[in-house]
Amino acid sequence: MKEINLTIPVKEYSSEAELPAADRELVEAAKRATDGSYAPYSHFRVGAALRLANGKIVAGANQENAAFSAGTCGERSALYYAAANYPGVRIEKIAIAARTDSGFQKEPISPCGVCRQALMEYETRDGDMEAILYGEDRILSLKNIKSLLPLCFTEF
Ligand code: THU
Repeated sequence: MKEINLTIPVKEYSSEAELPAADRELVEAAKRATDGSYAPYSHFRVGAALRLANGKIVAGANQENAAFSAGTCGERSALYYAAANYPGVRIEKIAIAARTDSGFQKEPISPCGVCRQALMEYETRDGDMEAILYGEDRILSLKNIKSLLPLCFTEF
């Protein structure tokens, strides 16, 4: 037996102003996307914006439902829109932001396990998808989705 350590390289930015201009634009799109959230139950509005290899930015937001399991996260809302409308086009980057009625989250919002798995499917097919996790106090940037899901299930 030997013990191994799995490490995740993460870039941390102290504010939006520190981000490269293209990433700032994507974060702004994710923040705007929270306006499209339907969250009457949690009041937690999640927006996600994707930069596609064809230059387009597409966005999505969480959609809740009285039958809770019928709802979906902001990340998958954006992901499936992109996959359905731009089939085969690589998703280069995803930015995620979340807010309540009192404002944007101070700490970065990170995708749930199901969204990580869903995002990774397209990353495995098309190549690395960077992730920008927005928080008012700091922003984290990861070079791919797989780093958010170590020892993941990829194929059968
Ligand atoms: N939510 C997302 O949209 N993305 C995540 O990564 C985590 C959670 C949504 C689901 C639900 O509508 C609300 O946030 C509260 O959990």
